[in-house]
Amino acid sequence: MKLKYINFRRKDSVAWIQFNRPEKLNALNPNVLKDLETAVACCEEEHFVRVVVLMGYEKAFVAGADIEHMSKADVNSAYELTDLGLRVQERLSDLSKPTIAAISGYALGGGLELALCCDIRISAENAIFGLPEITLGIIPGGGGTQRLPRLVGVGAATELIFLGEMINADKAKQIGLVNMVVPLGRLKGEVEAFASKLIDKPALALRAAKIAMRRGIGIPLKEGLQMEQSLFCMLFGTEDQKEGMSAFLERRKPMYREK
Ligand code: CAA
Repeated sequence: MKLKYINFRRKDSVAWIQFNRPEKLNALNPNVLKDLETAVACCEEEHFVRVVVLMGYEKAFVAGADIEHMSKADVNSAYELTDLGLRVQERLSDLSKPTIAAISGYALGGGLELALCCDIRISAENAIFGLPEITLGIIPGGGGTQRLPRLVGVGAATELIFLGEMINADKAKQIGLVNMVVPLGRLKGEVEAFASKLIDKPALALRAAKIAMRRGIGIPLKEGLQMEQSLFCMLFGTEDQKEGMSAFLERRKPMYREK
């Protein structure tokens, strides 16, 4: 697939979506977002893709929405821009496969918001995180006020959103914004290692776990528990459940097959 603002490649069962607008630190304009949407849709359709990785380059994951583009917006065009952004985010967040954000350099504003849509965030030591929208006279418009407090708690999120200040990778790990911090030179290798652990897991059970957690967070506990029960019981109709439990009893490594 040939896209202008995204490099898209697949290695084994892992799809790598790399932002490709380095001269603007990968700032998001409608063209970048549309290319991202195409790449994400392709990952959903392709059966051989088992894990999806979002990445930038050394200096920037994504430094936010394109401020030059946004500076010309009025209320109507702000709605158009955020409609597009929210649609792409929903596709990413609802991908039926595990997603990993491999973050180096700046992950700001809309860039951090994309990382928040991923299931796992692995950060290089040089990563810088922030929601600086308040310094521009606006608030986060790509889910920052909703997903960040759900992930790190209202206290830490409020500080980041009210002050608009940037934090480093260690602080991001401390507040639970990222799963792990690794040296920049090891980022790709660590992401590959994490992805290959996921590939060894039963795909349908991973999908069920993702649905249970993502949908469960927005509904009352009682409904969430019922949904978990349905997904749990549904997995007893899969070959992978039979294989997983037989392998345990036979003291061997399970070989999961269902996609
Ligand atoms: N939008 C547009 N252009 C951007 C950009 C952005 N978000 N971030 C960086 N760029 C551009 C710069 O304008 C510059 O372009 P030129 O060379 O053509 O002038 C180029 O990328 C390199 O950037 P800098 O020269 O500024 O690099 P630096 O190392 O000195 O600073 C930085 C890096 C601290 C990240 C700084 O670029 C910066 O503060 N960027 C803006 C970050 C920001 O506020 N992001 C939030 C945007 S709002 C948002 O995302 C809304 C939302 O929720 C959807």
